[in-house]
Amino acid sequence: MKAILPVLMLLAPLAARAQVTFSREISRVFQAKCQICHREGDVAPFALDSFDAAKQWGDDIQRVIEKRIMPPWKPIEGHGSFKDNFGLTDDERRMILDWFKNGAPEGDRADLPEPTAKTGEWQLGDPDVVLQMPELYNVPRRKDVYRCFVVPTGFDTDTWLNAVQIVPGNRQVVHHVILFVDTKGEAAKLDAKDEEPGYDCYGGPGIPLNIDGMLGGWVPGMRASRTPEGVGLRLPKGASIVIQMHYFPAGKQHADQTKIGLYFAKESDKISRRMVFVPLVNDRFKIPAGNEDYEVNATIPILPGLQGQIHMIVPHMHLLGKRIQVTRTNSFTRANDSLILIDDWDFNWQGFYNTTEAVKLNIFDQLKVSCRFDNSEKNPRNPSNPLKVVGWGEGTEDEMCLAFLGVTFDNEDIINSIRFSKKK
Ligand code: HEC
Repeated sequence: MKAILPVLMLLAPLAARAQVTFSREISRVFQAKCQICHREGDVAPFALDSFDAAKQWGDDIQRVIEKRIMPPWKPIEGHGSFKDNFGLTDDERRMILDWFKNGAPEGDRADLPEPTAKTGEWQLGDPDVVLQMPELYNVPRRKDVYRCFVVPTGFDTDTWLNAVQIVPGNRQVVHHVILFVDTKGEAAKLDAKDEEPGYDCYGGPGIPLNIDGMLGGWVPGMRASRTPEGVGLRLPKGASIVIQMHYFPAGKQHADQTKIGLYFAKESDKISRRMVFVPLVNDRFKIPAGNEDYEVNATIPILPGLQGQIHMIVPHMHLLGKRIQVTRTNSFTRANDSLILIDDWDFNWQGFYNTTEAVKLNIFDQLKVSCRFDNSEKNPRNPSNPLKVVGWGEGTEDEMCLAFLGVTFDNEDIINSIRFSKKK
């Protein structure tokens, strides 16, 4: 008896370590992969910040993790690499499910991590300036309301930003938000002609734009983030921000007043390059009614002068979309790199995906976006009944095959010469 005691004493700490507890392991995974949304005042319906919450929501957590519904991280591993990746690794998924199977032991509260800072609605802390729609807007009760609101910045010098966060005023009706920059007062003129707050802007803000005319956007599920080191967004002096709101009203009367937080770049950020949004887009397609798997592509060749780097990828389709991929092909070696792949497109969970490393655009590379659509009745999200041919458009029943690329060009002079949109 005496002889084996020391052996048991040696094994005991090993056995204790092997048991996964909430306090030690699970709390840390929830903190990193769930709490960005599951916390007070954020998009998710409950906070997942305690052992009690984990127990209370235990059945649901196991179901959504098993079915890979949560966390809603869409890009497939191995196709590009992105910052703020909140997807669970296979090991984490297995560990959480095993922990529940083993009776969900709490462990020693002394092992709990420091709670994450409470940031409330501003995900990057308090902005330097908050701008908002001039007044509360009563959203008309019809489908697809596109309305632009003009907000003067009043800045008397050019301003570098390293982040912009949009906070939708009413998440039940805000479908998406895009911010445009107007330096010529054109949008204010359109606003003045319209008696209601803002002006109708189906299809675009109705002002001439270059590729530096977009400042950012918001789509459901999106997180705010900073621009990469040395890269900034530029807001010209005296500019107004045009907030394009796409509302998709639910049954009852809703009002909205969306706001924007601007984060100024600091001297220490040493901004030397300017990020602009280049659309990689096919806007001339017709998806036949009933077709379950219709492919649409678009390509851009990197002609001399267009070399640069991609820092952000924003894939976009509507309700018929099922798969979207952006690739870069080297024209000499024909080597293909998949920059992003989402194969279970969900309109409710879109992202502005920031690349971990900048993706180089070499001369004569070719960029391609490839979209696949299901326009059959098998697609439960198909909004058209009876089925119809669907083409490009801004309405929810129309489609898009589009990826905005957040790009810096090696030669920034090129920015002024590329047209963004001719649409009126
Ligand atoms: C990017 C934001 C986000 C992240 C990250 C996230 N959730 Fe959620 N979660 C939501 C939202 C929003 C809902 C509400 C339902 C919906 O809109 O899909 C939700 C709903 C849920 C539900 C209830 C679902 C149901 O069907 O009743 C559970 C359980 C859940 N999340 C667990 C988790 C867990 C566990 C993690 C981390 C491993 C996580 N979520 C990460 C946003 C998020």
